[in-house]
Amino acid sequence: MNPEAAMVPAILETGDGVTAVAHPNIALVKYWGKRDESLILPATGSLSMTLNLYPTTTTVRLTTRAPADSVTMNSRPAPRQTHLRVERFLNTVRAFTGRDERAVVETTNTVPTGAGLASSASGFAALATAAATAFGLELDPRALSRLARRGSGSACRSIFGGLVVWHAGTGDGAAGDRSSYAEPIDAEGLDPALIIAVVDPAPKAMSSREAMRRTIATSPFYLPWTTVNATDLDAMRAAVARADLDAMGEIAERSAFGMHATMLAARPPIRYLSPLSLSVLDRVVALRADGITAYATMDAGPNVKVLCARTDATRIAAAISAVGQHISTHVALPGPGAALLPGGGS
Ligand code: DP6
Repeated sequence: MNPEAAMVPAILETGDGVTAVAHPNIALVKYWGKRDESLILPATGSLSMTLNLYPTTTTVRLTTRAPADSVTMNSRPAPRQTHLRVERFLNTVRAFTGRDERAVVETTNTVPTGAGLASSASGFAALATAAATAFGLELDPRALSRLARRGSGSACRSIFGGLVVWHAGTGDGAAGDRSSYAEPIDAEGLDPALIIAVVDPAPKAMSSREAMRRTIATSPFYLPWTTVNATDLDAMRAAVARADLDAMGEIAERSAFGMHATMLAARPPIRYLSPLSLSVLDRVVALRADGITAYATMDAGPNVKVLCARTDATRIAAAISAVGQHISTHVALPGPGAALLPGGGS
């Protein structure tokens, strides 16, 4: 390398790059487990709501000078595991395009990372959107969702706004890859909100990826859950079609409890819920006893999300905040799909 070039930071020769924004999504029918680890083909279909909170903004700049990809999150070098996942994802994009530039990736996350608040969904949806454009891949939204899936399964759903279904797809290899994509579903007549009750913003002890592996390998409840999940997904789609928020809530709650039951039966058991999570769940039951539509869902962390009507959201959030002084609540409405920022084309 000539000495002058060595003095120029890689970032200076890479132009403005491409910037994309994506929001997290919360599953109302859960994805838990893969039938193919490398293509990230799920064992079951799932259905989610994209939030209007906690955007992730990611800029991708290409460089021919740097020997490796660089990844910063909130202005700091990404932790090693995250760096490796991003690099693996960029290798997939490079393989699709036959290009070999390295990427300078800068991400700003507004959601607590790794706390079961879907930061990997918004993260890989934003990265897929920005990287596809930066590397000159022209993808329709469905193909973009398949690409985002390769970074993190749930990320495919964040490509779209509002309510979104992720089809499990059929078969293995290329056939499985083609048929496992996300698409938005009509939510006419619904005005839902999800209250995010943060009981602990700290990163979880075990990644969902690792927890899924252990559940599949050791939980006797896993296989039955996948069968129930398929009927829950059909029932959820029917409930959405008739704008029946109570039915949606019942299905969402049993999908979440079922998923957690599979983990509790793993060996050794995996338990993400804390005493404070259970107190919030008790409050949700009490609200329902008072005739209020409120149903809980929980992911790979102790935080609880409560599905309700938008018109009830403020008072339900207040009732949940009152459960404990360390609980903060945020009201999320259906949010937008992933998008390039204006001027973000390469
Ligand atoms: C509990 O999409 O984070 O939030 O595909 O291994 O990256 P990987 O897992 P990830 O898992 C999300 C699991 C969940 C349920 C859901 O979002 O459907």
